[in-house]
Amino acid sequence: MNLTAASHRIPLNDGNSIPVIGLGTYSDPYTKSLETCLASVKTAIDVGYRHFDGAYLYRNEHEVGQAIREKIAEGKVKREDIFYCGKLWATDLFPELVRPTLERTLQQLKLDYVDLYIIEIPMGFKPGNEVYPRDKNGKWAYCRADLCATWEALEACKDAGLVKSLGVSNFNRRQLESILNKPGLKYKPVSNQVECHPYFTQPKLLKFCQQHDIIIVAFSPLGTCRNPRWVNVSSPPLLEDTYLNSVAKKYSKTAAQVALRFNIQRGVVVIPKSFNSERIKENFQIFDFSLTEEEMTNIEALNKNIRFVELLMWRDHPDYPFFDEY
Ligand SMILES: NC(=O)c1ccc[n+]([C@@H]2O[C@H](COP(=O)([O-])OP(=O)(O)OC[C@H]3O[C@@H](n4cnc5c(N)ncnc54)[C@H](OP(=O)(O)O)[C@@H]3O)[C@@H](O)[C@H]2O)c1
Repeated sequence: MNLTAASHRIPLNDGNSIPVIGLGTYSDPYTKSLETCLASVKTAIDVGYRHFDGAYLYRNEHEVGQAIREKIAEGKVKREDIFYCGKLWATDLFPELVRPTLERTLQQLKLDYVDLYIIEIPMGFKPGNEVYPRDKNGKWAYCRADLCATWEALEACKDAGLVKSLGVSNFNRRQLESILNKPGLKYKPVSNQVECHPYFTQPKLLKFCQQHDIIIVAFSPLGTCRNPRWVNVSSPPLLEDTYLNSVAKKYSKTAAQVALRFNIQRGVVVIPKSFNSERIKENFQIFDFSLTEEEMTNIEALNKNIRFVELLMWRDHPDYPFFDEY
């Protein structure tokens, strides 16, 4: 794989392709101003990013879309250069909700289509305006959805031209297989977006996905923002890792750049989030060096098999994905 060109794209199983690095746009906490999001996406486009990972849930799709449209209007990029990934949230998994939910995202973005639309988590919640619904006793209001029926509704959105490619997120092997083995499957998932970085390298899921021509998109590739409200901070800070820093020193790079390079060099797409212009640039400077086989093996060996993003608050959901080995 030639990873010297910053514009590098990886082919998807449906004939489309995905840029190997994208900008994550989940800002935690939401206190970062929406103007910062707008400015960050514009900076990223100037730097060379063409892939943006967003979601209705992130409450900034409007700004992400505005930044993209402004850069198109400036003549800096064309719509077809940009790759936007949106996400179908857990309250919207019933088939009749899928198309209106995607259309709401398109209205926020003010774009005609998204490049990739993914089921954000395999667990259903009660439909409604509340994105994290609870019942009258304060317990999570779960609602089991037939994900194969959700998938068929997504396939119809692709046929209608609202989305180019379809994927999933946080799916384990069994959940992927239930889609892959669905009778009458029209489009395979092109990707599975999951946590993936040197402390959680996903060797088995990666192998399974490669066998099925499904790309792994690595979320939290730098080890998250470490907000203890939702991050398992018992796993140490990734970017302080001694080995990653020693490799970084050798190449005059940073631990963040080494962590990102590790994933793209093994065919995993990365979507680091930064709303800081220096770090946005830094995270994109990963095409002018490569790791040796020995370094790749050593970084793989850093795997602790512990997630930063465990979603343990939903562990009693019948479709909680992380009890399976992978
Ligand atoms: N599908 C899912 O369930 C799911 C779950 C989590 C995340 N995601 C997606 O994946 C994206 C990335 O994951 P993430 O946001 O959890 O974590 P991440 O990208 O691993 O890390 C983001 C944190 O690292 C900081 N950072 C960025 N570049 C840095 C650098 N070069 N050196 C030091 N610190 C740096 C950022 O702060 P600054 O902004 O201040 O630079 C931010 O606090 C999200 O934004 C979202 O789009 C998806």
